[in-house]
Amino acid sequence: MAFSMFKSCTTLALTSLFLTSTAAPTTRQAPNYAPTSQSDTFKVIANVTGTDLPQSVNGWALTSYHLSAGAGYAVLVDPTTPSRDFYINGTASEVRFNSATVASDGGSPPFPWGMVVNSPANTVSINAGLGEQGLGLTIFPDPVPKLHGPASAGWYACDAALPSGDAVQLFSLPLGDTAPAGCAQVTLLPQCTEGDGVEHPFANTVNCYPDVAGIDWTVYSA
Ligand SMILES: *[C@@H]1O[C@H](CO)[C@@H](O)[C@H](O)[C@H]1NC(C)=O
Ligand SMILES: *[C@@H]1O[C@H](CO)[C@@H](O)[C@H](O)[C@H]1NC(C)=O
Repeated sequence: MAFSMFKSCTTLALTSLFLTSTAAPTTRQAPNYAPTSQSDTFKVIANVTGTDLPQSVNGWALTSYHLSAGAGYAVLVDPTTPSRDFYINGTASEVRFNSATVASDGGSPPFPWGMVVNSPANTVSINAGLGEQGLGLTIFPDPVPKLHGPASAGWYACDAALPSGDAVQLFSLPLGDTAPAGCAQVTLLPQCTEGDGVEHPFANTVNCYPDVAGIDWTVYSA
């Protein structure tokens, strides 16, 4: 009995192996990822992967919250509120070795702003000037483009009372940690944009989603 069960399992396994290998000799059975496009500029959209905030922040966009001249906290705003466009700034080798930065334009005429994680509070700033090296979008071989903090850290967002009013503040989540109670664990996904027309000589073409909020995650592996 045990033997014949083993035998029929083997037969089944062999049959499915045979079917798989004859079905598509050139295309491999691969995980199914949400389709991406490419762009030099992108919006950063929150995708809630665990507990949400009372007011859902799923699909909200990253922008800066004015603190003082040239300094702002990174916050999430609902999709109807204007938000920043970002780009990955750096040479090809800086991108490859994870020392490029996440940059954005601000001011009039526009000048560069950069994203920075503040230690030890793990708050995130978008300040005038250069961003922090090591923040960026995951690249090949990771099939899912998403924003990562320093040392591959993730992100969470919390309701916060900031100097000029309440906001949903973004924090860097150290690798392996979970979001504090009352906060939302999010991934930050790039959504392709047309850009604001400002020339960025060191902007990199990135993989980005056409419409993050429109992705049905139940049909994709990630
Ligand atoms: C962009 O990257 C280049 C090359 O490393 C650097 O010279 C330039 O200052 C950076 N600009 C911004 C806005 O980050
Ligand atoms: C986005 O969030 C959903 C859960 O709402 C999750 O299944 C999916 O894996 C997330 N995608 C990414 C790329 O984080």
